[in-house]
Amino acid sequence: MDLQLGGKTALVLGASKGLGRAIAEALLAEGADVITVARSGDGVAGTQHILADLDDPAAPQAIIDAVRAGASSPDILVLNSGGPPTGAAASTTPADFAAVMGRMFNAQLTLAQAFLPEMRARGFGRILAVASTSLLTPIPGLVLSNAVRAMLASWCKTLAAEVAADGVTVNLLLPGQIATDRLTSLHTAMAAGSGMAPDQVTARSIAAIPAGRLGRPEEFGDIAAFLASPRAGFITGSAIKVDGGQTVTL
Ligand SMILES: NC(=O)c1ccc[n+]([C@@H]2O[C@H](COP(=O)([O-])OP(=O)(O)OC[C@H]3O[C@@H](n4cnc5c(N)ncnc54)[C@H](OP(=O)(O)O)[C@@H]3O)[C@@H](O)[C@H]2O)c1
Repeated sequence: MDLQLGGKTALVLGASKGLGRAIAEALLAEGADVITVARSGDGVAGTQHILADLDDPAAPQAIIDAVRAGASSPDILVLNSGGPPTGAAASTTPADFAAVMGRMFNAQLTLAQAFLPEMRARGFGRILAVASTSLLTPIPGLVLSNAVRAMLASWCKTLAAEVAADGVTVNLLLPGQIATDRLTSLHTAMAAGSGMAPDQVTARSIAAIPAGRLGRPEEFGDIAAFLASPRAGFITGSAIKVDGGQTVTL
């Protein structure tokens, strides 16, 4: 299937490694022009890489300026960032929430709102947010992730209906357990609190996945490239699980 991504420009946040990088690589392989954002790294070969810290309130405008300086206007925007720290609902404070809102919500909203008018005027746009299956089954000990992603998801769902008639789709991708540095650090943190070794935590996690293995970042990148493509024009306001069957709800 030709995904018809040639000539499209994608801006992918949180793309120096992990899921964001895999999405950038998949889009590039399908012929899109790709701009990546992260605090570090050189980006994927063949992309423009913007160094920015999404925790910095000034970062969204700096990213917009850098994109405009390259005379680009993204057709595809992938909203992604580093995950938040662990924490219990009973003890996580408003200050803890405020500390992650910049990269997990505010920056994503600002960038989407900046590029939406041009997407709507062109009659084509794709906004894809990387969330988590925790939207469906909140993960114990990860209240910041559970709650802030729910907020972004509701914003995406509301936006999807506002812009669908202009050819702009807004969807969520829900990773389950995909083998990235983030998953390794979560398993290490869980091990520290349980007396188990990190590889025992990983083995226990895999045992809960019907597919019997962790996901691969490139599998995640492929579904993102499809959703970002013109071929996926009738899918909007959806949340797609990529979890090897782990989530128990439909
Ligand atoms: N992997 C999974 O199984 C899984 C499951 C559920 C949800 N998720 C969520 O999906 C998202 C991506 O996960 P991942 O596994 O790809 O994580 P990852 O391997 O830790 O990669 C995170 C990416 O975001 C960038 N980043 C982190 N903080 C940033 C900041 N303040 N400003 C700009 N860029 C920043 C990192 O680059 P720099 O360090 O260079 O900035 C990196 O490129 C996270 O929100 C994660 O919680 C992942």
